[in-house]
Amino acid sequence: MTPTAADESATRGRVAGRVALITGAASGLGKADALRLADEGARVVLTDVNEQAGRDVADACGGEFVLQDVADVTTWVPLIEHVVDAYGGLDILVNNAGIAPIANIETTTTDEWRRVMGVHLDGTFFGCRAAIPAMASSGGGSIINMSSIAARVGLSEHLTYSAAKGAIAAMTRSIAVHCRQQKNLVRCNALQPGSISTPMVHAAVETVTGLNMMDQPDPEAFRIAMGIGEPIDVANMVLFLASDESKHINGAEIVIDNGDSVEYSVSSS
Ligand SMILES: NC(=O)c1ccc[n+]([C@@H]2O[C@H](COP(=O)([O-])OP(=O)(O)OC[C@H]3O[C@@H](n4cnc5c(N)ncnc54)[C@H](O)[C@@H]3O)[C@@H](O)[C@H]2O)c1
Repeated sequence: MTPTAADESATRGRVAGRVALITGAASGLGKADALRLADEGARVVLTDVNEQAGRDVADACGGEFVLQDVADVTTWVPLIEHVVDAYGGLDILVNNAGIAPIANIETTTTDEWRRVMGVHLDGTFFGCRAAIPAMASSGGGSIINMSSIAARVGLSEHLTYSAAKGAIAAMTRSIAVHCRQQKNLVRCNALQPGSISTPMVHAAVETVTGLNMMDQPDPEAFRIAMGIGEPIDVANMVLFLASDESKHINGAEIVIDNGDSVEYSVSSS
């Protein structure tokens, strides 16, 4: 039988043969992660609530798509069992799915608070809890939780989002120490990107500035002028954390924002 491109890449690369599960991978950062990990030899299972776009990404990276709402606790154990049965184990989990409604402390409704917490915080908790035993049985693994720069700075119009991302960073530290104490060779780290060019950020830019990034005469120049990164900037860090190159990194929060959050500017007003 002629080997497929996925078969061939699984024998080489920085995560060759590893089994990766990525949530919210139909779009943006999750999509870039899926393509990057597959390109470096991982066998990728990706989930999302957006079925058609998710299937398209799976086709593009030779992976498998599973329809999943990460906030639904009942989806997680069957999903992990399926991955272990079909692929022989689980090595990499990227808890990436997310939503970013715009609302501040005075305009956030109780339903919106619970919806955002459900996707980000519950989804990440359910994913880590279900995956760790499977990873431990596979001889260890790497969990990458998507936090945000919103966990470190004050974004008035991202109240619930910021709260969830801060809690994900704190939960990541607790999980990392637990796994270290268990000596199960599972590592857990959090990424904190600044603004990266994805549909989520395009929507936020349009809300704040009234400008559609993709309709600009030169979208690439506009992106650079706005200080917005590219999905590959995050996917490269996901690849590093997923690989053994990062074997001594556990419980870290890694900022990916080209210095945006540490620049000090003196106001003229
Ligand atoms: N883009 C950025 O600048 C940025 C910065 C920091 C953190 N993040 C985080 O990175 C992650 C990905 O964001 P993105 O920018 O790629 O956004 P995106 O909107 O392009 O992609 C998010 C994906 O998550 C999926 N999703 C939403 N709710 C889901 C659910 N309940 N179950 C499963 N899938 C669900 C969506 O369908 C979509 O495919 C999010 O957690 C986001 O908060 C993004």
